[in-house]
Amino acid sequence: TERISIAIDGPAAAGKSTIAKIVAESLGYAYIDTGAMYRALTWKAQQQQIDVTDEALLADLLRSITIELKPSPKGQLVYVDGEEVTDVIRTSEVTNAVSQVATHESVRERMVELQRTIGEAGAVVMDGRDIGTAVLPFAQLKIFMTASVEERAERRYAENKSRGIETPLDELKKEIRKRDQLDTEREHSPLVQAEDALLIDTTGRTIEEVAREIEQLAKERI
Ligand code: C5P
Repeated sequence: TERISIAIDGPAAAGKSTIAKIVAESLGYAYIDTGAMYRALTWKAQQQQIDVTDEALLADLLRSITIELKPSPKGQLVYVDGEEVTDVIRTSEVTNAVSQVATHESVRERMVELQRTIGEAGAVVMDGRDIGTAVLPFAQLKIFMTASVEERAERRYAENKSRGIETPLDELKKEIRKRDQLDTEREHSPLVQAEDALLIDTTGRTIEEVAREIEQLAKERI
């Protein structure tokens, strides 16, 4: 059997990471959260008071740090230079800055290089914004996952709450809209559905339902 690559792209909080994790586990594949890598860089930049508009400094920073994604029983853990940052990269401070960091071409180039190295061998489920279009253009299965802004905000609200973060729903909606806009309108590899990606709208559907659908699509390609 072939070890395929699965690319899952889509706007913020559409359910990508939750569903990607389930699919990866059921296929025995690795799950790679590329958004966590952009968040990790953003967090580190904020620690060093590097401006999110300073492309050269951000690209240098990315070259000088080590970002690691490690599976653990309680989910994927994220490390920057050996320091665990799994939860701190989900705060509003990082969330509201990350899409600015991700607009820079030289930052994206390096991220894509890192992510390709991880994903090249196959047997991966990778989620992000440009996986099907830029990171793994030869992925055997590409999904473009969406959901209504209303539902995405509600899901993010529940997720935040379980992490002990309290952000009003209206604020989350605003954050999501803003991030969607930055991600779809940026010049370098904007968020767009790949020509050969299958569109899955998760509005009103359960996590399990969507995960089963993607597993089925994967099995047809293995
Ligand atoms: O997936 P998540 O919401 O954690 O991603 C955070 C941000 O990182 C996105 O809003 C986007 O600006 C950026 N990103 C990206 N390309 C990826 C993954 C994330 O530009 N492949």
